[in-house]
Amino acid sequence: MNTLRTSALTIIQMRPSPRTLLRGFALAIFFAVSLTALAQAPNTCLDCHSVLDAPLTVNAESFSASIHAQKGITCVNCHGGDPASADNAMDKKTGFKGKITRQQVPELCGKCHSDTAYMRQYNPSLRTDQLAQYRTSVHGKKLLSGDSKVAVCTDCHSVHEIRPANDSRSTVNPLNVATTCSHCHADQQYMKPYGIKTAQFADYSKSVHHEAMTVRGDLSAPTCTTCHGNHGAAPPGVASVTNVCSTCHVFQSQLFDESPHKAAFAAAGLPGCVTCHSNHDIEHPADTMVSTGDKSVCATCHSAGDPGLNTAGEIHGKLQDLQDRIARSKEILDRAAESGMEVGQAQLDLIQATDALTKGRVAVHSARAAKVEQELQPGNAVAEKTYRAGEQALHERNYRRVGLSISLLVIGATLLGLRLWIREIEQ
Ligand code: HEC
Ligand code: HEC
Ligand code: HEC
Ligand code: HEC
Ligand code: HEC
Ligand code: HEC
Ligand code: HEC
Ligand code: HEC
Ligand code: HEC
Repeated sequence: MNTLRTSALTIIQMRPSPRTLLRGFALAIFFAVSLTALAQAPNTCLDCHSVLDAPLTVNAESFSASIHAQKGITCVNCHGGDPASADNAMDKKTGFKGKITRQQVPELCGKCHSDTAYMRQYNPSLRTDQLAQYRTSVHGKKLLSGDSKVAVCTDCHSVHEIRPANDSRSTVNPLNVATTCSHCHADQQYMKPYGIKTAQFADYSKSVHHEAMTVRGDLSAPTCTTCHGNHGAAPPGVASVTNVCSTCHVFQSQLFDESPHKAAFAAAGLPGCVTCHSNHDIEHPADTMVSTGDKSVCATCHSAGDPGLNTAGEIHGKLQDLQDRIARSKEILDRAAESGMEVGQAQLDLIQATDALTKGRVAVHSARAAKVEQELQPGNAVAEKTYRAGEQALHERNYRRVGLSISLLVIGATLLGLRLWIREIEQ
């Protein structure tokens, strides 16, 4: 109140002309009216539609939590109409568009999202190529050719509850994407006319990638859209989905490219990684995959006696050998540690041997035994050295034990002697 009075006094002291005063007054009234209008902007659309039955319901609470409502974009921006008038709200004369068909959805969303100048006012870092990309995807192309069962923007993003992808409640958050795609792709009835598999979601849910993401919280692991692209056919920089693995598994990819398989697979029209690992239900690989046994992936193409299967057997032997050596070292070092010997350094060194084993497994992708051997060699040396350290420690323990026994014996004998001597003196 005090400040108001002071301001009023200041204005009077400034002796403004009646005209200026009038203008100021008009301005003040204008602001007051606009403010109240903003505060209670009537939205008759929501008044009706929040209480109507499906499919006409719009949940007022989740709509107001959506990114659009948060940024001041409401019903009228997408649907047209006059939200201020209860009677003529949906009058075509007020620009009301009526039902938005699935065919119309991408254009509607793209009207704003492809307009770089418009979007920059809100969020300059947001991409504006979603519609352009979408048109390159299987979904986008089929929609244009008249198939409206494919995914349109609202199938992936929801309609009135759209949230940014980094919001954990968003339908396109990495943790929710697979479920979003599964609504159609796991629905046998819905997908029947297309004759494609519907097991992607079930398979992916069993995969190493799903496990890494959901169990270990590793958001760098891929979900459906990491491999297939969000809007486009494949993520930028990836010519075909089958090449997507190399964006993350760089070493395996380099080795595969140098291997005899690169050219051989290409000639046979086979994809690279996916041929041995599958695409959706990728499992944790085991050494048995490269062997001559039942679980061998090599044996699906190579047969006994050919250079391919010989190499598989040779590689398996080398991997097994280092693994045995590591186990042997670990066992002896554990035994030494349990009997109180200091072998901490050797136990630490042994980690290097495990690292070499990991590198050897990566080198399997070269399909060359010599390359695998080269990676394993340092590991073999470390395993040998640490085994010796274990032996040495046990040897020293035994030596100390013998020493201890002898001193105990001497002490015992002395005590006995003393006792006999005392008894003799007493007698
Ligand atoms: C007085 C209540 C009321 C108001 C206000 C109202 N609606 Fe509706 N709306 C309905 C009813 C009832 C229907 C279904 C019958 C019909 O199509 O007329 C409907 C249908 C719709 C449809 C579906 C049209 C179709 O052809 O399938 C849309 C979209 C819609 N409203 C949007 C809006 C928007 C946007 C506003 C505000 C500008 C609004 N409504 C205001 C009651 C209302
Ligand atoms: C960002 C754009 C956008 C905003 C904002 C928006 N809508 Fe919609 N609305 C759509 C689209 C697109 C559809 C069609 C959904 C579909 O089938 O994919 C739709 C569908 C509807 C339908 C169902 C029509 C039918 O026949 O199924 C109603 C009713 C509706 N909207 C009312 C509203 C109301 C009321 C508001 C404001 C509270 C609102 N919408 C805000 C884009 C929007
Ligand atoms: C009237 C213009 C307009 C229309 C139409 C529109 N949007 Fe938006 N949209 C925006 C604005 C503005 C933002 C807020 C951008 C920001 O500030 O981050 C936004 C945000 C988004 C976001 C969150 C982006 C992020 O990650 O931050 C998504 C997703 C989105 N819109 C999808 C859609 C979809 C799907 C449709 C069609 C149903 C649609 N939009 C229609 C203007 C619009
Ligand atoms: C097949 C599912 C799918 C369809 C169809 C789809 N989107 Fe997206 N969209 C996504 C995913 C997934 C993300 C999240 C990307 C991420 O994790 O950052 C996304 C992100 C976005 C963003 C945030 C900015 C960005 O590009 O990352 C906007 C805006 C957006 N989509 C708009 C649209 C519009 C407009 C359409 C229709 C032309 C559309 N989307 C169609 C799945 C889809
Ligand atoms: C609204 C239902 C729907 C949703 C949701 C949907 N799709 Fe689709 N998708 C389809 C239909 C229908 C086709 C066409 C199938 C065909 O022609 O082979 C298709 C085609 C595809 C194809 C091409 C398949 C081929 O034939 O090579 C891929 C890849 C794909 N979708 C991935 C996704 C991913 C990833 C998501 C989730 C981000 C998703 N889809 C969400 C309906 C959907
Ligand atoms: C690690 C990468 C990766 C992930 C994750 C992934 N896909 Fe795929 N997907 C592929 C590859 C590679 C193909 C084979 C493409 C080809 O042969 O051209 C494929 C093929 C497809 C196809 C075509 C039909 C088929 O089964 O061959 C559809 C549809 C599809 N994926 C949907 C999905 C959905 C839905 C998800 C999530 C639940 C998903 N994909 C997760 C890599 C992936
Ligand atoms: C977006 C990055 C990314 C893409 C693309 C990707 N992966 Fe992975 N992959 C990971 C992550 C992260 C892990 C889990 C890390 C780990 O367990 O070492 C993983 C784990 C694996 C594993 C198990 C490793 C282990 O030691 O158990 C295999 C096998 C694998 N991926 C193969 C593939 C194949 C084949 C493709 C292509 C169809 C592919 N990945 C695409 C990131 C990716
Ligand atoms: C000829 C079959 C074959 C091909 C092709 C192949 N892999 Fe492997 N991959 C294997 C075998 C066998 C193992 C198991 C090695 C082990 O554990 O002894 C493996 C293991 C892996 C692992 C687990 C970590 C590791 O290296 O041991 C990843 C990740 C992996 N592969 C990714 C890929 C990627 C990415 C590609 C494509 C560039 C690819 N693989 C191509 C057979 C193959
Ligand atoms: C999808 C079929 C396929 C699988 C699986 C496969 N290979 Fe091959 N491999 C080939 C073809 C085709 C060639 C080239 C023709 C040939 O020499 O037999 C080849 C060549 C080779 C060669 C070179 C042979 C030579 O004559 O110099 C070696 C070594 C080899 N593979 C090892 C492996 C190992 C180890 C595995 C398992 C990790 C494996 N391959 C898995 C198809 C396969």
